Amino acid sequence: MEKLMRDFFLFLSTNRMMTRFAKKYGSSFGASRFVAGETIDDAVKVIKELNGKGLAVTIDYLGEFVDNEKEANEMADQTIEAINAIGREKLNSQLSLKLTSMGLDISENLVRENMRRILKEAEENQVFVTIDMENYSRCQKTLDIFKKLRIESENIGTVIQSYLYRSEQDILDLNNYSASLRLVKGAYKESSEVAFPNKADVDKNLKKIIEMHLQNGNYTAIASHDDAIIEHTKKYVKENNIPNSQFEFQMLYGIRPERQIELAEEGYTIRVYVPYGTDWYGYFMRRIAERPANAAFILKGIFKK
Ligand code: FDA
Repeated sequence: MEKLMRDFFLFLSTNRMMTRFAKKYGSSFGASRFVAGETIDDAVKVIKELNGKGLAVTIDYLGEFVDNEKEANEMADQTIEAINAIGREKLNSQLSLKLTSMGLDISENLVRENMRRILKEAEENQVFVTIDMENYSRCQKTLDIFKKLRIESENIGTVIQSYLYRSEQDILDLNNYSASLRLVKGAYKESSEVAFPNKADVDKNLKKIIEMHLQNGNYTAIASHDDAIIEHTKKYVKENNIPNSQFEFQMLYGIRPERQIELAEEGYTIRVYVPYGTDWYGYFMRRIAERPANAAFILKGIFKK
């Protein structure tokens, strides 16, 4: 039943008509538990609160399914606005983005041009940029672009998903770039031809790639709400004398907020992923797919209106 619900919400997350509808009619239906608001000012307010609690942030201007150049350029402009806000307000925040929102599905030239503009601004404001990983069909293209940008900039990292069979090979390859990586289980619906169908294998592989990347001496962000993964990492770094400065934990805004504070109080760097903007639908549906109980927030949102 749980798998059926997960597949259903992941199916909904890719529906373009629903995406456009949701964008037009605002962030209602309970999405505000996971999304900081619609504007950069809303996001800045949330970041200040989180920073005040000892939590670092990575901010994401939400956007998916960008299929024309004008929209991709606007997404890049908004992203630059976010970087400037981080610099101006002296926030403890990095930035995350999706290459499809910068034009990945349109042309490589467009996405590289937009990324260069963003990285120039990021360097001036000393803001680290992480390229989120999207579905499998975009994985190779995303890594190819990441590698080219990494040669030009120190200020960029990306994400590896442990549900993909290829992830171990990618960790080995990206070691040649001393890549700063966020390691996750993976949030999209993938076929068993490319991804482990069983959760136990995904979890086991996440532990494995965390160990590999740490052992290679690279900066590692462990992005998971799973206590088993967090405790495994704590034990591994202790046993292998890996300093706290070589890794951090990351969680999503609105998920396990008390645990986030506990980890910060234990002396770990913990970074909260804070999305904002009107294009919240796909992001929100993936969060429900991870935990169908979150659907209750939609109903609450409807009745509150
Ligand atoms: P898992 O799903 O096994 O959950 C463990 C426990 O965490 C659950 O039992 C529950 O208690 C809690 N939990 C998990 N999800 C929850 C939710 N939605 N609501 C409430 N509780 C929840 N993926 C991707 O494909 N590309 C990317 O770029 C990113 N980026 C990213 C950044 C950050 C900071 C995080 C934390 C995650 C991502 N992800 C991602 C998502 C990731 O791939 C994965 O889908 C989710 O983190 C859920 O997996 P967990 O590791 O948390 O464990």
